[in-house]
Amino acid sequence: MDILRVENLKKHFPVRRGIFQRTVGWVRAVENVSLALAPGKTIGLVGESGCGKTTVARMILNLLPADGGRILYKGNDICGLSDRDMKPFRKEIQIVFQDPYGSLNPRMTVGQTLSEGLRMTGARGRTGRQEQIERLLGLVGMAPTAVDRYPHEFSGGQRQRIGIARALSVEPALVVCDEPVSALDVSIQAQIINLLKDLQDRLGLSYVFISHDLNVVGYLCHHVAVMYKGQIMEYAPAEHVFENPLHPYTRVLLAARPDPESGKGPPAAGLEGERPEPALTPTEGCRFQIKCPEKHDRCRLLGPELALVGDDHWVRCWQAPPPASGSYYSGK
Ligand SMILES: Nc1ncnc2c1ncn2[C@@H]1O[C@H](COP(=O)(O)OP(=O)(O)OP(=O)(O)O)[C@@H](O)[C@H]1O
Ligand SMILES: [Mg+2]
Repeated sequence: MDILRVENLKKHFPVRRGIFQRTVGWVRAVENVSLALAPGKTIGLVGESGCGKTTVARMILNLLPADGGRILYKGNDICGLSDRDMKPFRKEIQIVFQDPYGSLNPRMTVGQTLSEGLRMTGARGRTGRQEQIERLLGLVGMAPTAVDRYPHEFSGGQRQRIGIARALSVEPALVVCDEPVSALDVSIQAQIINLLKDLQDRLGLSYVFISHDLNVVGYLCHHVAVMYKGQIMEYAPAEHVFENPLHPYTRVLLAARPDPESGKGPPAAGLEGERPEPALTPTEGCRFQIKCPEKHDRCRLLGPELALVGDDHWVRCWQAPPPASGSYYSGK
């Protein structure tokens, strides 16, 4: 059974203007997003800034109510659960943020931060907890001496290790990583990515990995979902996305990839997208039509469905090869 299934997830935010904050429009931040994640695997969510990645993450963690759809964690629908009903799942689903400094309490030592989580798992007594803190620090490659130090005493990479240790302190099964390396130097990024991979192998963790860097996603992810303005444009096993990208947007992203060695490369034309103002998201037709190098008339009139075009390979594009018979899945 999949550890996580997201079905037709939807979130629209009101756009408010003026002193009375009247609603003048809606940002269709997430539109019918569906994903499936097998235990011990990683699904990558990629796409330009503002395409809805964090909104999906916040809904998976039940930090933000969905406007529609279902989120099944180990078969249980956790959408809209009250705090009390969500409690058994809170520990199992954790998040690692982009900015570990912003997410760690600056007035708490590393030991205090990790103790909080350990207390939730029922680790009893100071001695037991002390041992577990050392074990957690060891897991993320930090010395036991970090225990009495404060977040500001560490480098960005070390702080992210502490952020990961904090997530692991409650023994989760699923970790949502929201751009966990984007704020770090390229050399440090590789260390953290390798750490995440190593932890997955050792602990059997499942990851939802959010990034705008396809190189990182290619290294870590088993499946990749490419998002554009709230919709999944392409969804497939990672090697299919890299070797046989079928959506024009995926091809734009691949062409804009920086060189994995130097981190330098062509300007990330497709990535550094504008914050999508509602006016820029077409209300009719394909959402990518404005930027699409391959659009034709039909794209203006009607938005394509996400269709199965190969072995677990889904694409939302009129130009993609014809789907296997009867395999349109409007939900994906
Ligand atoms: N609380 C909110 N109220 C109104 N609009 C919001 C809110 N949160 C997000 N949005 C809008 O929803 C869209 C998706 O935002 P989201 O943060 O999910 O994008 P993202 O893909 O995570 O971007 P980034 O790569 O910059 O982190 C954006 O247009 C954003 O402005
Ligand atoms: Mg985000």
